[in-house]
Amino acid sequence: MLSRRRMLTMTASAMGAVAVGAATGNKAEAARPRRIPYGACVRVDPLQKELDYRAAIQTYCQQITPEGGLFWGPLRPTRDQFRFENADAVLAFAEANGMTMRGHTLIWYGTMPKWTDDIEGAAEAEHEMTTHIERVVSRYRGKVKTWHVVNEPIDDTKGDVPGLRPNIWLRNLGDRYIDLAFRTAHEVDPAAELVINEYDIECADGTSPKRREVFLKLIRDLVARGVPLHGVGLQGHIKGKYEIDRDGVYGFVSEIRSLGLKAHVTELDVIDYDLPGRIGTRDAIVAARAHDFLEAIFAAARPSVIATWGITDRYTWVPIWYKRRDGLPNRPLPLDDHYQPKPLWNVIDYFCNK
Ligand code: XIL
Repeated sequence: MLSRRRMLTMTASAMGAVAVGAATGNKAEAARPRRIPYGACVRVDPLQKELDYRAAIQTYCQQITPEGGLFWGPLRPTRDQFRFENADAVLAFAEANGMTMRGHTLIWYGTMPKWTDDIEGAAEAEHEMTTHIERVVSRYRGKVKTWHVVNEPIDDTKGDVPGLRPNIWLRNLGDRYIDLAFRTAHEVDPAAELVINEYDIECADGTSPKRREVFLKLIRDLVARGVPLHGVGLQGHIKGKYEIDRDGVYGFVSEIRSLGLKAHVTELDVIDYDLPGRIGTRDAIVAARAHDFLEAIFAAARPSVIATWGITDRYTWVPIWYKRRDGLPNRPLPLDDHYQPKPLWNVIDYFCNK
């Protein structure tokens, strides 16, 4: 038996040989029951139009989430509108295929529609936020069992210790906006599991330790105030260039666990824009990074889910922000653009059965 410490200091190549080896491509094997559900975010367009995409989701996933359908932008083009078609379509697909749908996300600074810039003052902000959460959570009550209530609350500030990320809620309500979001969601669906979700806490790049520290302080404060928080999402948009800070991740998840909270891997992918172009080399690094990340998490606690942000390299957000300079397509996800499993898939499969 290896000690945790020893496991955390071993190299990916030593520990990961089994998990990171060549992908088998055996779909029947992929579909077998797992100890931990595997999930992915999905796009409705290919879900409705592409047989291969649909088949991949059916083959591999136990849980899915709409990639953008629950963002304020598409959901609330005007103050009075709620356009649920996209999320409803994902839910229908999930239910028809024995999967669950995960809710991403109720409160996020990103993709806010223009009209929300006009929200002014605490009373109006509170009204808009609570109305939104009531409408969305009640529509999926009993169906969406896990919500990412607040997404990316920590600021990106380089250098100094970051604080809360500015958004219209922080501006109008102060930091109580986070409590309000969780309490409202809990009132509407007391059985739902409520998660706070964040990125860049795993890399040995100099910024992750500060982000972990600030995020943990926020989490501790929420727990101390009795806010209904049940889980912490580690997005896991891993910056492939850097090693994983295994001890940092292990310490972070241990602390989450000691607070009585569950860890969730919510948006795993490996950002490969500055990795070598050669596919074999790149896929091996991508798999090794995910392996190290998951191994460090598992050393502290088994996560509730391992979800990737997309399933195939054909449909990924990564090139929107991280296009490769050599013009080669990104390869951040478990299946390639022809739906063949890559070494990253073997890593995920290994940990989902661990
Ligand atoms: C991304 C979507 O994948 C894109 O389609 C959209 O244009 C922007 O948002 N962290 C998150 C996700 O929590 O919501 C983001 O998703 C990716 C980063």
